[in-house]
Amino acid sequence: MSVVRWGLLSTANINRRLIPAIRASAQGELVAVASRRQADADAYAAEWGIPQAFGSYEALLASSAVDALYIGLPNHLHAEWTVRALEHGLHVLCEKPFAVSLSEVDRMLDAARDSGRVLAEAFMYRHHPQTKIAGDWVRGGRLGEISVMRGVFNFAMGNRDNIRLVPEWGGGSLWDVGVYPLSLAQYFMGGPPLWVHGDQWVGPSGVDESFIGALHYGNGAMAQISSAFRTPWYTHFDVMGTEGRLVMTRPFTGTEGEERRLTFVGVDDAALELAVPEQELYAGEVEDMNDAILTGRPPYIGLNETRDHVRTVLALYESARRGERVFVEEMVA
Ligand SMILES: NC(=O)c1ccc[n+]([C@@H]2O[C@H](COP(=O)([O-])OP(=O)(O)OC[C@H]3O[C@@H](n4cnc5c(N)ncnc54)[C@H](OP(=O)(O)O)[C@@H]3O)[C@@H](O)[C@H]2O)c1
Repeated sequence: MSVVRWGLLSTANINRRLIPAIRASAQGELVAVASRRQADADAYAAEWGIPQAFGSYEALLASSAVDALYIGLPNHLHAEWTVRALEHGLHVLCEKPFAVSLSEVDRMLDAARDSGRVLAEAFMYRHHPQTKIAGDWVRGGRLGEISVMRGVFNFAMGNRDNIRLVPEWGGGSLWDVGVYPLSLAQYFMGGPPLWVHGDQWVGPSGVDESFIGALHYGNGAMAQISSAFRTPWYTHFDVMGTEGRLVMTRPFTGTEGEERRLTFVGVDDAALELAVPEQELYAGEVEDMNDAILTGRPPYIGLNETRDHVRTVLALYESARRGERVFVEEMVA
């Protein structure tokens, strides 16, 4: 195999970011889309110029049309369709949050191991050069010992008829966008926190529309993360250490062409702007999957990292529910 044939499982809104990235990749081609209704699949395939359209997810899995699937389903369906795809011998790039329970994550990891296929979580920002440069600075000790991190991902939920507002579908701001600062803190610290405190405001549909989390690493480092569906768009991440701080104005995503600023401020308060090469935001995760599939190397975001993302979210929700701190290792299902 020299080219990975990709299929889209659903006509999700987010596909519009993956389609150009797959088409631009040197080793990937987009060949199929599946939808729950044939008419929707046909219309979508015509709109986006996709050669094959399947009228059910199962029909795409059972075909031999694709090598890899991109799964952008509502959160509660990630595990089921990832496992089914792996069992059909397909490689899977699954959207964040990977799954909404640890038992689901473990079924997905077992299926990946048993099938020998590549499985990865689609955290596009982790592949961007900005994240890697910031990671080199923080993990390489250039900020000294890390003391406090602060990360935010907020937006205004205009449409109340949204999958993100349905509790039983893995709705909620922490699952949806709080996972960004949470996963960036984990990347910088090289692992999950020891314990967490969570607090939330639950809206009328029964999901957290605002969430604040404190993450304790037990070594003097702490992170404060927040997410909300109730403010204009805002993302930010600061890392503060004994030797200075790193400030990221667009750590995760933004509108196309929006400037990313990555600034180091030292103990003398002098600011140094770090140059960040341009790279299409979704290109990295697609190239990484293609390469992992074609060469047999593991994907850049390891499944243990992904498992820790989910464990930490579960601990935060449990803490918000109980009103007390929760150790991440308490999360077992
Ligand atoms: N990485 C990122 O930048 C990013 C950005 C946005 C979203 N996401 C993630 O991508 C996933 C999808 O988000 P989205 O906003 O694109 O979702 P969306 O537009 O609501 O699409 C979800 C799709 O799932 C399918 N589906 C299957 N069962 C469904 C059900 N019971 N109710 C509704 N839809 C159902 C539908 O496709 P068919 O009708 O074709 O079957 C629908 O188009 C989420 O996990 C989200 O966290 C990631």
